[in-house]
Amino acid sequence: MISIIEKTRDGIALSKEEIEQLVRGIVDQSMPDYQLAAWLMAAYCKGLTDQEVFWLTDAVALSGGPIEEALGIVDKHSTGGVGDKTTLILAPLVASLGIPVLKMSGRGLGHTGGTLDKLESIPGFQIHLDKAQIERQMNEIGVAVVAQTAELAPADKRMYAVRDVTATVNNIPLIAVSIMAKKLASGSPHLVLDVKVGNGAFMESMDQARELATMMVRIGDFHDRNVRAVLTSMDQPLGYAVGNAIEVNEAQACLRNEGPEDLRDEVIALASHMVSMAKNISYESAQQQVIEALQSGSAFEHYLRWIEAQGGKREQFCDGLPLAPFHMEVLSDRAGYVTGIDTLRVGQIALDLGAGRHRLEDPVDPEVGLLFYAKIGEAISYGKPIAKVYARSQASLVKAVQALPSALTIETDQQPQKHVTILETISRDDLSK
Ligand code: URA
Repeated sequence: MISIIEKTRDGIALSKEEIEQLVRGIVDQSMPDYQLAAWLMAAYCKGLTDQEVFWLTDAVALSGGPIEEALGIVDKHSTGGVGDKTTLILAPLVASLGIPVLKMSGRGLGHTGGTLDKLESIPGFQIHLDKAQIERQMNEIGVAVVAQTAELAPADKRMYAVRDVTATVNNIPLIAVSIMAKKLASGSPHLVLDVKVGNGAFMESMDQARELATMMVRIGDFHDRNVRAVLTSMDQPLGYAVGNAIEVNEAQACLRNEGPEDLRDEVIALASHMVSMAKNISYESAQQQVIEALQSGSAFEHYLRWIEAQGGKREQFCDGLPLAPFHMEVLSDRAGYVTGIDTLRVGQIALDLGAGRHRLEDPVDPEVGLLFYAKIGEAISYGKPIAKVYARSQASLVKAVQALPSALTIETDQQPQKHVTILETISRDDLSK
């Protein structure tokens, strides 16, 4: 291991065998944390060649054993954001069009939310299904969203835990390896990546987001997977709701063909890519099918069947989940237009209310959260509500109500341009350009 660390420290590329040795050492624990930390810091500072990134992704993907044939045809992954409830909508929506979707999801960490936490706010919902249950559910309704199993790319689990405490998370090759290894291991031939960019995302600039997206599309291409990356804005929360139950309620509104415009636009774009890849049809035809599934109610009906299949009771979630007992509206002390939202700050306020966790083992409060009434570009009058806070206690309510105004920039000048949610798409075809 010392020579492997030395080589990466000195910017000398590792061979395939050395990378496989490194990953074996990570999984069987023969490489202690201090050596792994040293190697990660060397890779963070010196970078990795494309070839090293491809081999490392492969070795991490295979670290839990051979990749089995996938039960789903198309998968999606978000790089993480605030108010991102798209999986809850996309999985049943795409499945309602006859395309099997099996998604392994994660929990929220830091200011970003996690799909499993949102789903667990539905009473009775089971995120741990065994193989036979998953197979049965996939045969019956073609959709399942479950927790990542311990066998899914275990090397990533250990690498991520060490990166988290050694300031080596925010690195494009290491993020690309981490995400793509899990996606290769879960086996779907088609993958849509939602690469978030903006003040609430890992990638704050378009250049960084493009670099990450291109690297992940190239990793997919090298491993013969069809990957499209959609760059979407995280300069404001997605939709109006931030939390867990409150986001489930908003996702249900979207599945009923209602709900905020930016959420709907993003869902339609991501679903249309998923459908066009899985059915090998044009984006425009796929989009027509997606809109029809939302308008006809078939996507919502599929959602109800899916939630029930995983333990939810229709009468307990279908008309909306209950929210925390202490609530208050935040009133604007100015008139003008919303010109900016500090999305990271919003995520932190929700986290402090209890909607997220500082450490993986912390409990999450499903009923707390925030509901915005305005987004970038919209007008706000003096004394009118800009948001509503739902809290577990009076003290946490007051703290959030006091903190929230500083996360919004309201200016009286001209109305700013409408905020754009879908920024760019990068696919296999763009690699040769
Ligand atoms: N999400 C992941 O799965 N891995 C990273 O490294 C960053 C975000």
